[in-house]
Amino acid sequence: MEMQEVHDNMFLPLPGLPPILITRTEGVYLYDSTGARFIDASGGPMAVTIGLGRKEVAEAAKKAVEEVSYILPIFASESRIELTKRIKKRLPPELNEVYFCSGGSEANEAAVKFARQYHVLAGRESRYKVMSRDLSYHGMTLLTLSIGDVKMRQRDFLPMLWRNPRVAPHYCYRCPFGKEYPKCDIDCALDLEKKILEEGPDTVAAFIVEPVVASAGGGLVPPPEYFPIVRETCDKYDVLLIVDEVVTGFGRTGRNMGMDHFGVIPDIATFAKGASSAYAPLAGMAVRGSLTDLFKEKSAEFQHLYTFSAHPLSCAVANEVQRIIDDEDLVARAARMGDYLGKKLRDLEELPMVGDVRGKGLLRSVEFVRDKASKEPLPKEKKVKMDIITTCLLKGVFFYPGYWEDEQGRGDHIMIAPPFIITEEQIDECVGVLQETVEEMQPMLLG
Ligand SMILES: Cc1ncc(COP(=O)(O)O)c(C=O)c1O
Repeated sequence: MEMQEVHDNMFLPLPGLPPILITRTEGVYLYDSTGARFIDASGGPMAVTIGLGRKEVAEAAKKAVEEVSYILPIFASESRIELTKRIKKRLPPELNEVYFCSGGSEANEAAVKFARQYHVLAGRESRYKVMSRDLSYHGMTLLTLSIGDVKMRQRDFLPMLWRNPRVAPHYCYRCPFGKEYPKCDIDCALDLEKKILEEGPDTVAAFIVEPVVASAGGGLVPPPEYFPIVRETCDKYDVLLIVDEVVTGFGRTGRNMGMDHFGVIPDIATFAKGASSAYAPLAGMAVRGSLTDLFKEKSAEFQHLYTFSAHPLSCAVANEVQRIIDDEDLVARAARMGDYLGKKLRDLEELPMVGDVRGKGLLRSVEFVRDKASKEPLPKEKKVKMDIITTCLLKGVFFYPGYWEDEQGRGDHIMIAPPFIITEEQIDECVGVLQETVEEMQPMLLG
């Protein structure tokens, strides 16, 4: 196929990116129509876990279509029930009600609507605000864009977005309070209570957070004290704690769920990406049974249903993916490979342009700066992160962009989040290509 034909049939192709026709995927590799091979070092958008192109998943999909091709989500399919049981095994027993939909944005939208409807049923009609953090991402719909804080995604839609109360992030490398852990008082966690009081507790329905911030902040891991303080504050003011596990769920950080690192149980956990290793659109939320009980008592229906919710094909595919994760002990492997990746990336801290290396498990990030001592970002017009990503791609490794930017629109970090089946040799290749690229670019950028 001619590249012009590819270009002409893509809706608004990304400016600056040459048209690439991927014809085959296998393991951690993407192959294009010229035979070139790329390592998918970010698992797509931090989504692929078991590796690409697995025959067992293809067979599960074929069987699903032959047996139950579609049913309204008010009916059950065997694969849906099996998947629900597998997902519950990865979650704390309190989160024992699982609802399915098709994507992460939709799952977060569902969680917010559930929280609001729960408060209405509980006689707290005045509660509708959803608090969230600066440097977070929860999706692309207008509601989830409002809750998140990715400025470039929001810019053109600002008049259409909600006014949404925001809490400071745990961005320790650039602490919003100018403090340093562990000498700080975890002011970022205390900020939640301050903001709830400012808004009026009777108006706040929920607080939504990522356990480890993915691309909006670049692998931001909270200090151990953070989530216990947040949980206590939410309990004190009857605010539901929604944890967005869209990226972190199902092994990405080396534990079943991201929250497993912090010993805190949320009221709602949303998930997507890793649930099906991106083989099929499958997402959802797990909710405390104590909350759904109220719906049952009042015979209330949750007002959120899509044509493709709990689609039998997606459920069958995700069920097979979860079986593979169990049988091949891939969560433990993600922890092991994550440690190795973290160690290799930390070696890059020697480079003058590398300001910070952070993350957990196989969710890692590198932030680039103009000046290591002052942490001054690189000039916006240099478009450094996209240059790094494109150059690495041409050398055979794909990384994913991060979205942090300061008030002047400056900010460059990339995400490294490969499939869990990646080997040490493949990690060496990815980090080697990144190092070589940064070393080539540094003299021009730093002078
Ligand atoms: C933390 C987080 N939440 C939600 C989403 C939205 O998920 P989706 O793209 O499946 O709608 C993403 C997507 O990258 C994400 O990173």
